Amino acid sequence: MIFRQLFDSVSSTYSYLIASRRGGEALIIDPVLEKVDRYLKLMEELDLHLVKALDTHLHADHITGLGALRDRTHCITVMGEQSKVDVVSMRVGEGDRLGIEGISLDVLYTPGHTDDSYSFAMGDRVFTGDTLLIRGTGRTDFQNGDALAQYESLQRLLRLPEDTLVYPAHDYKGDMVSTIGEERRCNPRLKPTCADEYAALMASLNLPNPKMMDVAVPANMRQGLLQAEIARRGWAVSAPEAAGLIGSRGVALIDLRERGEREKHGIIPGSLHVPYPELQENISAGGVLHELATATGKRLLFYCAFGERSAMAVQAAQDAGLSAACHIEGGMGAWKQAGGAGAH
Ligand SMILES: [Fe+2]
Repeated sequence: MIFRQLFDSVSSTYSYLIASRRGGEALIIDPVLEKVDRYLKLMEELDLHLVKALDTHLHADHITGLGALRDRTHCITVMGEQSKVDVVSMRVGEGDRLGIEGISLDVLYTPGHTDDSYSFAMGDRVFTGDTLLIRGTGRTDFQNGDALAQYESLQRLLRLPEDTLVYPAHDYKGDMVSTIGEERRCNPRLKPTCADEYAALMASLNLPNPKMMDVAVPANMRQGLLQAEIARRGWAVSAPEAAGLIGSRGVALIDLRERGEREKHGIIPGSLHVPYPELQENISAGGVLHELATATGKRLLFYCAFGERSAMAVQAAQDAGLSAACHIEGGMGAWKQAGGAGAH
């Protein structure tokens, strides 16, 4: 496994780059905007192909690199389903698994620092975001923070095996990694024995707001790909328009989501399944979708969860010479809002 802990000294943020092999797919957790060039250089050096960029929660102390990484690598952006971000490509919830080639993360909903805080367990380690820090815990006094909820989230993390490595989103003292057992013994924030006692401790902290907060929070809430340009070129159909097209001979409907998303959120009947990471080989000359579109004259109609992967797919298909390709603006979210039927 390739595992890199990367540090942004301005915001004291740790970002994590993970891949199962050189030359393979990579995932990055909590990237910082100002470090995006560094991540891209490192991935080039290690011959890694970024497929997913994930934030553990909506950050208040730095601007996320999610949008910039998506724009430069066409990767999938991921956040929790409670997040107030306008658009991400994929949203995850409690009990989901988030995967790339050779790597699988268990998704744990651990609210308290914010109401969209998640932790991600991977084999012998857990990425705790700002829920559990080394000898500390994330503040709970803004962004719908809730000390009582955080207490429960911390209890849950403490039930992981003692020797589980703890990789937080920040450290301000120079520590890089700890273990669940070490934190259980040495973390002063884990001394309270009930939620009320923990909430009283957190209420007594009186922390100043992060310096970047007024800039970072609004910026982090606007990470979505601008789908308007795709629509202006005539490459988008609304969900109600799509309902009229689906089933017609001239249209091939293509679902770009992953199997787990299809099982959880349903599908639009009659769609072919081509997961987004496999898109490029399918639309290039000789690929199945390329042949389908050129041999039958069918119009490729892509959809995904919220329209972001499908907007990138339309651009890629257009670049591959498939000029009739289009997508359902807003994806499955818009489809369901328009009263469209989904089927499990
Ligand atoms: Fe945070």
